[in-house]
Amino acid sequence: MHSPHVIRQRAAVSRPRRETLNGHMSINLWFTGLSGSGKSTLAHAVEERLHLMGCRTYVFDGDNVRHGLCGDLGFSLEDRSENMRRIAEMVNLFLDSGVISLTAFISPLKADRERVKEIIGAENLIEVYCNCPLEICEERDVKGLYKKARTGEIKNYTGISSPYEVPENPDIELDTGTRPLRDCVNDIIAELRERGIILH
Ligand code: ADX
Repeated sequence: MHSPHVIRQRAAVSRPRRETLNGHMSINLWFTGLSGSGKSTLAHAVEERLHLMGCRTYVFDGDNVRHGLCGDLGFSLEDRSENMRRIAEMVNLFLDSGVISLTAFISPLKADRERVKEIIGAENLIEVYCNCPLEICEERDVKGLYKKARTGEIKNYTGISSPYEVPENPDIELDTGTRPLRDCVNDIIAELRERGIILH
């Protein structure tokens, strides 16, 4: 904290009031997994379903946030950690705004994911592990980055030359390598219903 003389402004319109107006609770769905494991695809598909149900949503993913808010960050473990810290702080604001946020970041390190939970509050976050074997991600290679990582053109590539620590206790684990997208979406919607985040 570098600004000790900043005093928090309290809003009269509170999170519970916004949630009541929205007709659903706010929550964060934090998708983690290798590049190409389907995090963004799944996050956008869940958002589409929620939107059709009348829920207020927003998706953040590495490929867009890294052009703006986190455009100054690279892929060293320190930069990834800072990337996640900023996203977590942003998620906090979105929670307060009553929105269901969906964040799709590789989030490779367990310690960083734990810190995210501390910042956001474990009760405000559903960790979704997109479990897709490296071979399938590499075969998909949607952006051609795995090929570049293999030749060494891209350094510190997750799964190739930079670590990915598998979550031990994710709230939801989905086999995004073989399970149809629609089934994965259904699992997440069911979890939101079970937790009372959405009511219909
Ligand atoms: S994270 O590790 O900090 O969570 P993030 O999800 O924001 O990563 O960004 C990952 C995306 O950046 C990948 O999907 C890929 O398109 C791109 N990318 C570019 N360089 C790398 C790299 N060295 N490692 C992983 N992803 C990279």
